[in-house]
Amino acid sequence: MRGEWRFHSAGEIIFGRGTVRRTGEAVRRLGARRVLLITDPTLVAAGLHQPVEQSLAEAGVTVDRFEGGQAKPTVEAVLACVAAMGQGQYEALVALGGGSNIDLAKGAAVVLRHGGSPADYFGENRVPGPILPVVAVSTTAGTGSEVSGAAVLADLAHHRRGSILSNYVRPQVAIYDPLMTVSCPPKVTADAGIDALSHAVEAYMVVDSVTEAGGEDPASPYQGRSPLTDLLAEEAIELIGRYLRRAVYQGGDLEAREGMHLASLLAGLAFSNAGLTAVHALEYPIGVASGCTHGVGNGLMLPYVMEYNLPSCPERLAVVAELLGEEVEGLSVWAAAEQAVEAVHRLKADIGLPLRLRDLGVPETELRRLAEETAQIVRLLRANPRPFDVNSLEELLRRAW
Ligand SMILES: NC(=O)c1ccc[n+]([C@@H]2O[C@H](COP(=O)([O-])OP(=O)(O)OC[C@H]3O[C@@H](n4cnc5c(N)ncnc54)[C@H](O)[C@@H]3O)[C@@H](O)[C@H]2O)c1
Ligand SMILES: [Zn+2]
Repeated sequence: MRGEWRFHSAGEIIFGRGTVRRTGEAVRRLGARRVLLITDPTLVAAGLHQPVEQSLAEAGVTVDRFEGGQAKPTVEAVLACVAAMGQGQYEALVALGGGSNIDLAKGAAVVLRHGGSPADYFGENRVPGPILPVVAVSTTAGTGSEVSGAAVLADLAHHRRGSILSNYVRPQVAIYDPLMTVSCPPKVTADAGIDALSHAVEAYMVVDSVTEAGGEDPASPYQGRSPLTDLLAEEAIELIGRYLRRAVYQGGDLEAREGMHLASLLAGLAFSNAGLTAVHALEYPIGVASGCTHGVGNGLMLPYVMEYNLPSCPERLAVVAELLGEEVEGLSVWAAAEQAVEAVHRLKADIGLPLRLRDLGVPETELRRLAEETAQIVRLLRANPRPFDVNSLEELLRRAW
């Protein structure tokens, strides 16, 4: 473990049932009186915008609504959002939704302050300074975008996806009201929940110094593991083991919804400081090739990457097994670590996630190309505890196929 580490978060985190009513006062604390609410038609149909707008109105905040959010937001959607604002003179953006709407809002907030296209800021630390404040009201239990320094956007014109990675894009306020996640359908719950598990397990496996592993910038949002990210990841893994199945199958189970929302917060704080591994690197090309959701792509690769990494971090994976509720007493560290891999396979099967790459419609002939594309994502691969090259990536994809 390095001697020095730092930790970044959203400016303020508000957690608990009913806390959506705090949105207005949180906006006022930022000094804003005129905001744009960024959301999507599904959430408006579910009425989730109502308590947000009511809270804003009660606090004397003027609000306009942009409903152009979409799953896996694009650069084009961000530009449409910015164009729709016209001369709106908004002092803050309130993002209501899952990772997609929050990332859309972050992209818009960057462009509003610094100009250009969100794609100009893809990569690490390319945002030159603070952005328009974002207040994130989370409606899924998964991505951690409410607290993270990342915004993931598809760039249709260039057939790629990119991430804006900067501590400047962390929201000023993150509101986690578990009641706002109750209407999530089982598939959204499963996808988002496995993404949170992936964040936590990856943050727990990541090398302990990204800089030493070849990172060029010590101010990188991803710093490698620290005692704090380890604690957060451990708690998140335990919560997900206990509550994800319940949240998927009994959507109205408030204890499970609250447990998952907390897990997504803790996992978000963990990964957005420690960093991620090969799972998220593989998800990029798999997501583009198959059109699957972020959660499905990560969930698919997670146990295979854990298995590949086992020789590099058996003790850590043995802890993961225990945290997921596996019976590990009397087992060797290695056998316990293998149980962690099995536990994730079982959890995925239980919540109805695809188990094989072929189930996503990816042809076997594409695997080499996917490996080659993944190998370009050095930022994530360098943080993986066991090194990869194109051949080992291809072999891993073959195992998952
Ligand atoms: N910025 C980050 O740090 C980060 C991290 C991981 C993932 N992501 C990104 O987040 C996106 C995935 O986000 P997500 O998994 O939260 O899902 P999402 O935001 O894409 O939402 C999925 C669908 O569920 C609907 N939905 C959301 N909440 C609902 C609710 N409470 N009730 C009913 N319907 C609801 C949405 O309208 C949408 O149609 C991907 O684009 C991914 O790349 C970002
Ligand atoms: Zn993710």
